[in-house]
Amino acid sequence: MKIENICCIGAGYVGGPTMSIIAQKNPHINVNVVDMNADKIKAWNSKNLKNLPVYEPGLSKVVKEARGRNLFFSTDVNKHIEQSDMIFISVNTPTKMSGKGKGYAADLKYVEACAKQIAEVSKSNKIIVEKSTVPVRTSEKIKEILMSNNIDVDFQILSNPEFLAEGTAMRDLEIPDRVLIGGDNTIEGKRAVNSLVEIYSSWVPKENILTTNLWSSELSKLTANAFLAQRISSINSLSELCEATGADIEEVSKAIGMDSRIGSSFLKTSVGFGGSCFQKDILNLVYIARSEGLDKVADYWEQILIINQHQRDRFSKKIIDVIRKKNLEPKVLLLGWAFKKDTNDTRESAAIYVANNLLNNNIKIDVYDPKVAEHQINFDLSNVTPNYEKSSVKFVEQPFLNISEYNIIALMTEWDEFKAFDWDIIYKKIKKPAYIFDGRNILDSINIKKIGFNYIGLGRK
Ligand code: NAD
Ligand code: UGA
Repeated sequence: MKIENICCIGAGYVGGPTMSIIAQKNPHINVNVVDMNADKIKAWNSKNLKNLPVYEPGLSKVVKEARGRNLFFSTDVNKHIEQSDMIFISVNTPTKMSGKGKGYAADLKYVEACAKQIAEVSKSNKIIVEKSTVPVRTSEKIKEILMSNNIDVDFQILSNPEFLAEGTAMRDLEIPDRVLIGGDNTIEGKRAVNSLVEIYSSWVPKENILTTNLWSSELSKLTANAFLAQRISSINSLSELCEATGADIEEVSKAIGMDSRIGSSFLKTSVGFGGSCFQKDILNLVYIARSEGLDKVADYWEQILIINQHQRDRFSKKIIDVIRKKNLEPKVLLLGWAFKKDTNDTRESAAIYVANNLLNNNIKIDVYDPKVAEHQINFDLSNVTPNYEKSSVKFVEQPFLNISEYNIIALMTEWDEFKAFDWDIIYKKIKKPAYIFDGRNILDSINIKKIGFNYIGLGRK
């Protein structure tokens, strides 16, 4: 089936960038990205490309090229469902907060609502593409909802999980390691798979487009995230062992990463991984394993999250201990709030949890981040701290305006600009004794110590 009209439900961090690239590379296909959040759609349509709701290097250039030509953003969900041949479901799938599976299972209420709406509105045959990350066999549930609410049209379901990472999303979409498409092993199923393969083939080499059955595709997505997060927790757990033994985690990481069987990616120690997906996807995997009675498997994967929390807590404790032992003013400048560099996304950022630990110990914090707004920081903290008092947190637009007020700077995000700061000048102005807690090991510890700072990194002297 030749696709002429695509609708994508969900204009978030995945829907927006993914559809922008699909539209850019397929000028003959109309791509309508729809969302029930009118403010978000307004922001996607804003003339000033700096106001797009997602910050991603390279995104505004692609939006500029395709928007208004064959890429459109709209709140009219029904109209675009009806007019399309292919519908991507790219809505959020957060961890369930109540009911069966609370705290672990993925909440599929948004996915299910989309399926119901598609069934109710559709008058012609459609291919439904699961873009959201979902538990294995969700495609079956979607099929059930579609077929029980509309028997007049044919729906083919595909799984096409997204592997982009924020901050490098445009590059990841432009040159993906692989595109994964799962579908039914029937004539109609194969035809649907081919329609999606054709769309990606506009720019992705055919050998990088992998087709599988639906459930393998769904489970591969959860597995990929679990493997990536597992490497971070492994290296983070060893950073603590380095501190205890005098080994240096940067040296260990380099040494093992040069083994081609291990590889060097995702071996950077940190104050803990964040982002909207690693935690929720591992919780989901743990839930699925436990539901199948596989407790040992569930415990194995759950340990990744236990280490991640431990890393955030022990980093916080290092700061708290220094304040107490040295009798310093309980105030810290946090540099970085985003969960990684080059994104404005703060979901599950380690900074939130460290800030929360500091606030719970009556330590005041000032926060600077080049891409995160003050209201977002307040929102994040009020979510984790029930008695959150705005007055204990100050958002600063220029990080070093009040530098003489602090003894302690904590680096939370690896923004390039932090590495480029003139640390000599900062040292001259900061209150003494001066401490840098490097939650990303991005500064040259020897140089920083030479300047006069007390340097506390992770897993290194
Ligand atoms: P998001 O929260 O940024 O965006 C989801 C959007 O869906 C929101 O704007 C919301 O308003 C909209 N929405 C929800 N229900 C709707 C409905 N019924 N009708 C219309 N709009 C609706 O989420 P995201 O980060 O884009 O993630 C989406 C999915 O992709 C998740 O399953 C996630 O696990 C997965 N994923 C995310 C990333 C990432 O880097 N963020 C990468 C790969 C996969
Ligand atoms: C991750 C995966 O990398 C994507 O493939 C996947 O599509 C996505 O999750 C998803 O499903 O949402 P993302 O969370 O955007 O992407 O960013 P990552 O680069 O994976 O970083 C996640 C967290 O791990 C960040 O906090 C980052 O700072 C941290 N990290 C990463 C480390 O601490 N050390 C590393 O070596 C790498």
